[in-house]
Amino acid sequence: MKNKNIKNKKYIILGCGGYLGSHLLERILPDESNQVIGWDLDKVRIEEHLSSSNFIFHEQDINSNDALDKISEEIQSVDVVIHLAAIANPSEYNTKPVDVINANFINTYKIVDLCAKHSKWLIFFSTSEVYGRTLSSYIDNNEYKDESLFILNEDTSPLIMGPISNQRWSYACSKQLMERYVFAHHHEFNMPFTIIRPLNAFGPRMDYIPGVDGEGIPRVLACFMSALMKREPLKLVDGGTARRTIISIHDFMDAIELILSNPSKSINEIFQIGNDKNEVTMKELAEMMRSIYADITGDQSYREHPIDIVSSTEFYGEGYEDCDRRMPNLNKIKEKLGWEPKINLDDLLVETMKYYHAAYANK
Ligand code: UGA
Repeated sequence: MKNKNIKNKKYIILGCGGYLGSHLLERILPDESNQVIGWDLDKVRIEEHLSSSNFIFHEQDINSNDALDKISEEIQSVDVVIHLAAIANPSEYNTKPVDVINANFINTYKIVDLCAKHSKWLIFFSTSEVYGRTLSSYIDNNEYKDESLFILNEDTSPLIMGPISNQRWSYACSKQLMERYVFAHHHEFNMPFTIIRPLNAFGPRMDYIPGVDGEGIPRVLACFMSALMKREPLKLVDGGTARRTIISIHDFMDAIELILSNPSKSINEIFQIGNDKNEVTMKELAEMMRSIYADITGDQSYREHPIDIVSSTEFYGEGYEDCDRRMPNLNKIKEKLGWEPKINLDDLLVETMKYYHAAYANK
């Protein structure tokens, strides 16, 4: 998918080597009137861009003094600073909460200070996790009958997190504090900002396969793919009743492209970007993925591939608590930018799973 809209802009992108960053570079770099100065600790996803004449890459921790000095210098001549650097993997929220808080708040607030000092447009990638759990989830025998208790709106929904001992919320809380810090700098120092809250964007290059190009527990897409390819049971945490709305990375990046190319409509706004039509329980997702994998491989036994139920404590350890449901109201981005997601769940899963199969099945 080629960018038609973003031109003549100079960017700093922090975390440009991650999953979202790699897709963003694909949109920005082909137009040579754009320039990107990027930072990341990892470059495996962006090797193909390293030789682009309009891309300068620093393989460096953005919290090092040297990186901060360089960012302070470069920021003066850029149009936009995009902050993507994060630890965004739920298995680490309850097992490495200090790293999570450091990465997602302590190491990030300095970038906000710099943007405020130089009056630069900061696009901060936050998360739909800031909403925490729905109000509905606290009602006995909840059947999600009252939409006002679970549909999420950027500017009005409350952000509801569990007790401190449930360290799952270390990430959501760090991101929420960052959002408040960004908004405070807008309020007090007139810093232009946009906050993005992605809702489960699936696509090629998301996460890793444990034991092949990473260790630990990735997000659900890679967990299920890994289990299918290794012929191990898919695991449904706490029965797989949690619901997510899943958006294709391409629809997601179309929205980002519109945000970048329409500053007058997107500055000083919060946008959630998801696909309200693609809602599934994790159990439904597991069942869909095994059927699609049967089609991709031609091996019909995958249709009955085993699915086990595990407790969250067994799977993630102590302190995990789940977001029960994330259903976005997309009216704001539709009205302001004319954006709507187009790609249905089946199509996006087929594309993404084919990518994983081609990239990993023989490894
Ligand atoms: C994560 C991040 O925390 C968010 O910041 C991010 O915005 C979001 O992914 C995203 O991709 O946009 P979450 O949806 O909870 O949030 O992450 P997953 O690890 O993909 O988990 C989704 C659901 O699947 C959870 O209910 C989890 O318990 C379940 N799961 C996960 C399984 O049932 N089995 C598995 O093997 C893995």
